[in-house]
Amino acid sequence: MRSLIANELKVASAVIAADEAEPEEVVGEVGEVLLEAVAHRVEEEVEGLEDLLVTKNLTPGEAVYGEKRISVQTTAENNAGAVNGEAAPATQTEYRVWNPFRSKLAAGILGGMEEIYMRPGSKVLYLGAASGTSVSHVADIVGPTGTVYAVEFSHRSGRDLVNMATHRTNVIPIVEDARHPLKYRMLVGMVDCIFADVAQPDQARIVGLNAHLFLKQGGGVVISIKANCIDSTSPAEQVFAREVQKLREERIKPKEQLTLEPFERDHAMVCGVYQRSAA
Ligand SMILES: C[S@@+](CC[C@H](N)C(=O)[O-])C[C@H]1O[C@@H](n2cnc3c(N)ncnc32)[C@H](O)[C@@H]1O
Repeated sequence: MRSLIANELKVASAVIAADEAEPEEVVGEVGEVLLEAVAHRVEEEVEGLEDLLVTKNLTPGEAVYGEKRISVQTTAENNAGAVNGEAAPATQTEYRVWNPFRSKLAAGILGGMEEIYMRPGSKVLYLGAASGTSVSHVADIVGPTGTVYAVEFSHRSGRDLVNMATHRTNVIPIVEDARHPLKYRMLVGMVDCIFADVAQPDQARIVGLNAHLFLKQGGGVVISIKANCIDSTSPAEQVFAREVQKLREERIKPKEQLTLEPFERDHAMVCGVYQRSAA
C-alpha cells in the first residue's frame, strides 16, 4: 500500500472490511495499511477494491453523498497504543472513498500533487463549494481541529452544503459570491490554504481578492483551472500559462502545475504560495 502524502505516516497491519451499508463485514486481509495520513490510497487485492483514494471519515457510520465506506481494523499486536508490553485493544477506523472523476482535488492528488497545503488542524477557505461533496473530504482531512470555510453562491447547491455542514461541524457554509469577500469577512479567520474551483473566467482575480484578505503569509493556494471556462478559443496550455501569470500578479508564487488527465480533460491544477508583501 502506498501513501500519497508521505510525511508522518504510520504503518500497521490491518483487516479491510466491506463498504456501504455493512462496513463491518470483513471481505479480505491486507498486509499493510497506512494510517494517520492526510489522504490515503487503498491499493490491494481484494476483489472490487483497487487503487482507491480515501479520507478518514469524520462522522463514522455516515456517508455524505452515497460514497462507499471502508472500515479498517488495526490488529492489537500492531496497534501503536501498546503500553508496558500489553497490547492495546484493536481499533476500527472508517474511511470514505473519494472519486477522482467527481472531485478535481481528488484527481489532482491521484495525479501526483506534491503538496495540498491542508492537513489535520488546517484552516481552509474553499471557493466554489457546490453541494459540498469534495468539501466533505477536505473536512475529513483537516479533522476536528481544523476548519473549512466553504463559499458557494448558488442557493440551490448551498442548501445541500448547509445540510452537509450540520453533520460536519468543522465546515462553515457561506452562501455568498466569492467576488465579494468583504460580505463574509465576519465569518472567516486567517487561513492556511485557499482552494478554488469556481470555474469562472475571473477566477485568478477572485482568488487574489480572497487571499489578500484571509490568507496567511506563506499560505498555500490550490486552483483548478478549466481552460474553456477562461477562453474557449486558445489552446489549453496557453490559457494555463496566462492564468499562472495572473496568479503571480496577485503575489501567488507558482510551485506546481499538472493536468487532471485522465479524470478531466483540459483542466489543470496549479499550486502556489502566497507572499503577503512584495519581496
Ligand atoms: C466546478 S463547480 C465546483 C465543484 C466542487 N468544487 C466539487 O468538487 O464538488 C463550481 C462551483 O462554483 C460556484 N461558483 C461559481 N462562481 C462563484 C462565485 N463567484 N462565488 C461562489 N461560488 C461560485 C458554482 O455555483 C459551482 O457550484
